Amino acid sequence: MQHLLKYLPSTDTALGEKKIAFVPTMGALHQGHISLVKEAKSLAEQVVMSIFVNPTQFESVEDLAKYPRTLKTDIQLAEAAGVDVLWTPDVSEIYPDKYKLIDAGELGRIYEGHTRAGHFDGVLTVVNRLFEIVKPDYAIFGEKDFQQLFLIREFSKRAHSGIEVISGRTIREDSGLAMSSRNVRLSPDETNSALVISRALEIGSKKQSYAEIKSSVLAELTTEIDFKLDYFAIVNPKSLLEVDQSHIGPVQLLLAGWVGSVRLIDNFAAVIEPEGRGN
Ligand code: PAF
Repeated sequence: MQHLLKYLPSTDTALGEKKIAFVPTMGALHQGHISLVKEAKSLAEQVVMSIFVNPTQFESVEDLAKYPRTLKTDIQLAEAAGVDVLWTPDVSEIYPDKYKLIDAGELGRIYEGHTRAGHFDGVLTVVNRLFEIVKPDYAIFGEKDFQQLFLIREFSKRAHSGIEVISGRTIREDSGLAMSSRNVRLSPDETNSALVISRALEIGSKKQSYAEIKSSVLAELTTEIDFKLDYFAIVNPKSLLEVDQSHIGPVQLLLAGWVGSVRLIDNFAAVIEPEGRGN
């Protein structure tokens, strides 16, 4: 594996003609990232991974400082997973003196974007820069960050139509907890409390009406006093907008909240059946 710990040379010379599948990350790698690498390897001969803790997507310097950084083990994990090029750019390379933040629009200001103002502007800005430099054929993002995936997909269609955005399914611990780089900050007790998130979503995903989904998820969340809800939204996966009782068909259940000081998100798919409509 090439470790390009400072820069990625022109992909023409470094990577030749081979197709590139790209896995952008912020490091603190876990099995969720590794499954994205596996997906990447099935798509193209060259797998490029970036590790860049992107300052523009954090709302505060404290949150940025708290983000786990584990480069040594990341390199080992990436190598074992078969990453061909690991790229760890520095801030000046991604953000030259004059750069403009990309506006993620209205859909970037709801759910995650409501609580984390500017977050998706930062995400789209860094993804744009990474795409400009790596010039991949495919880019793979996890479904755990459902809103992020949606916004990147829409943005890529407009700005990078040659890049196919592929999604990788959410990888979970045996307990059901969605894997996340933030999980390492949970104490054992907090990890236990965090299980309410996937538990509630799983219960909701088995219901067939809007009302039952909503009430069952919210009821389950109240069983864990150490979980503080930020939002729960039942959305149309095609528009990302909240549905109401009249909706029939697939929905995505989006949930976010805090256990202690750690913010966690997760989502499950569900289907509202015609006989459940109006309930
Ligand atoms: O999901 C992440 O790790 C980040 O938001 C991403 C897409 C690498 C952009 O910094």
